[in-house]
Amino acid sequence: MNKAFFFFLILFSSAVFGQEIIPKPLSFQKGEGRFELTPQTTIVVAEENQNLRAIAVSLQKSVMTTVGLPMKIEKEGKENVFIFSLNSDLAEEAYAVQVSKEKVVLSASSEKGFFYAYQTLLQLFDARIFSDFLIKGLQLSLPVCLIKDEPRFGYRGMMLDVGRHMMPVSFIKKYIDLLAMYKFNQFHWHLTEDQGWRIEIKKYPKLTEIGAYRKETPLGHDSENKGDRKPYGGFYTQEEVKEIVAYASSKYINVIPEIEMPGHAVAALASYPEFGCTGGPYEVRTRWGVAEDVYCPYDKTFEFLEDVLTEVMDLFPSEYIHIGGDECPKDSWEASEFCQDLIKAEGLKDEHELQSYFITRIDKFITSKGRKLIGWDEILEGGLSPNATVMSWRGTQGGIEAARQKHDVIMSPNSFHYLDYYQGDPATEPLAIGGFLPLEKVYSYEPLAEELTEDEKKYILGVQANLWTEYIPTPEKVEYMLFPRALAVAETGWSAEGSKDYKEFENRVKAHFERLKVLNVNYAESIYNIKSDIRTTSEGMLKVYLSNIEADPIIRYTLDGTEPNVGSALYEAEKGIDITQKTRVRAVLFDKEGKSYANQYMTELRVNKATGKPYVYRSAKTRYTGGTDYALTDGKVGTEKDMQAWVGLNEGKLDLTLDLQNKIKVTDLSIGFLHAVDSWIMFPANLKVSTSNNGTKFKEISRQGFNKGELRGKLVERVKVDLKGKKVRYIKIEADRHGKLPDWHAGAGSNAWLFVDEIEVN
Ligand code: ACM
Repeated sequence: MNKAFFFFLILFSSAVFGQEIIPKPLSFQKGEGRFELTPQTTIVVAEENQNLRAIAVSLQKSVMTTVGLPMKIEKEGKENVFIFSLNSDLAEEAYAVQVSKEKVVLSASSEKGFFYAYQTLLQLFDARIFSDFLIKGLQLSLPVCLIKDEPRFGYRGMMLDVGRHMMPVSFIKKYIDLLAMYKFNQFHWHLTEDQGWRIEIKKYPKLTEIGAYRKETPLGHDSENKGDRKPYGGFYTQEEVKEIVAYASSKYINVIPEIEMPGHAVAALASYPEFGCTGGPYEVRTRWGVAEDVYCPYDKTFEFLEDVLTEVMDLFPSEYIHIGGDECPKDSWEASEFCQDLIKAEGLKDEHELQSYFITRIDKFITSKGRKLIGWDEILEGGLSPNATVMSWRGTQGGIEAARQKHDVIMSPNSFHYLDYYQGDPATEPLAIGGFLPLEKVYSYEPLAEELTEDEKKYILGVQANLWTEYIPTPEKVEYMLFPRALAVAETGWSAEGSKDYKEFENRVKAHFERLKVLNVNYAESIYNIKSDIRTTSEGMLKVYLSNIEADPIIRYTLDGTEPNVGSALYEAEKGIDITQKTRVRAVLFDKEGKSYANQYMTELRVNKATGKPYVYRSAKTRYTGGTDYALTDGKVGTEKDMQAWVGLNEGKLDLTLDLQNKIKVTDLSIGFLHAVDSWIMFPANLKVSTSNNGTKFKEISRQGFNKGELRGKLVERVKVDLKGKKVRYIKIEADRHGKLPDWHAGAGSNAWLFVDEIEVN
């Protein structure tokens, strides 16, 4: 630290964290007063450096556009200036911003560092600095402060899938701008899919003539198996790709192309059927999910893939090249004589080792060109190729395993970083693929798993969030799904270990909504959603408590299924809402002027003899995806859309005893199960119900078996059991999980989840 810097630090004795910067910087010290921009303010760039000058021009343009000040760029100047000051002591991505009343000093050792300093500077200004027109009466100034900053991780990425839905070049640039604003440095561009090949390859024109177009797109959820009958397609020319790569580079973002193999290749096979095991014909896929048809490991297939990768590597200077590797069903390899012979000839054990053989061959090729292969965590199956970097998506386990094997890892677990999942109550959110990842959950992710040793942790290069676009057809919806959750990912990737504080982050996010609004970003306001806390009373009734992030929200509600309006009942926090029978609760948030927000709340509650009654699990290995202690008797019924209400198990069996607390007359019991095989959830194999009066001696009342092993769609079924009007106190419910996912499933061999919700007794 140089002396002037040190002196400056002493001046700033108050360490108030009064800033709104995202991602949160390493240190921020606020001083007194402000630096005011005037017509005489200049920017000083002493170095002859085009890129530094470009950053200065960018600053100049923003200020000129917003407030009309000229901000000349000079070689020297001492007061009323922005100074770009080289400090070779700082690490490549580190920077400092030092604002006093007289000047603003940006320090860094690299252009990239200055770029991040500039991004931070923009966030210190009034949000309207991002405006693209003149704002009358706006006086720009900056708070006197000292910021020292550097990232926690070197890899901070965001993936966009353009295979399912293509986004225009202009939007890809906006997306890159937004990533840059939050100091991401990697854009992972998922370019090829079963439903569309999106990059021009000169040597194989049919990839885009045929592979870039599909006959139709699923209408509604894939499980409904309906199409919209509208042809869909498009691709990026090599010129457009170059333009995007150069644009990203100007924002210090590296673009990692993903060319999927051996699975997710149907669009390529439709174009060149000779690379599939059956020879086709194949059709560009019109449904989401996972296809059985994959590349066949012929020599000619490898020649094709190497040709494709050669053109791709010419377009993308990225050291990393992503080759997919996920969700590759082995059916076509099992049925292929060629594959079976190859397995024998190469001394491989099975099709999983054949997948490893496939990836290793591609890895050798990529490595020979001086690049590095990245693949999804399935590339661990059958043995990891020597130079591979693993992108952990099926939770964190693949990443942990790869780090233990001393391979580099990027953490993008679906349990925290799949931004195509719902971010609020699915009943009130636009259609999404499923899942539930509200902002707080995304923010809670810690990439360095506790079970790793300090040495193993060094292999975790950083984090990434993924945006799969099955249910995201437009740029507006991309923005909705990304923002504000991308801000949480940015902070996980950048900010110092242990520095996260959700409540404080949430306040900064609210301030960023102003910036995103000026930038015309369609961010989601789901953090303002009304939340419910449903409690059971000793009388077997329900009490619903509503809240949102505001301290004193104005909430109005109805209990008759109609949409609440400004005249509906006003919610009173101290009273809650009493529910004594089957009721649909709807609630809406209002502002002080009586204007309603879009964030509705809706739930259906069923009060019955089991409501609020306790139950005890005997299955020690049970795991839950959601729900409270009363999840199964809280009156809230799990539906296909509302995944939060369900309790999930993927080990052991369901085995519980419900205590009705008194011996009472019961006529029937019903219990719901979900089958959603795409989400690895399967109907149970059976259900057994027994009753007892003392809790120790049980009498079996009903035993039934189910076989929904071949059912590929989605369904919720409530199984009813006749309790014959008997007087009982305890009801034992047992159900075996389906077991393993079936052979045809992408997750074949893994445990199927059992999802259960709401036990009703009448
Ligand atoms: C993936 O989500 N299949 C990587």
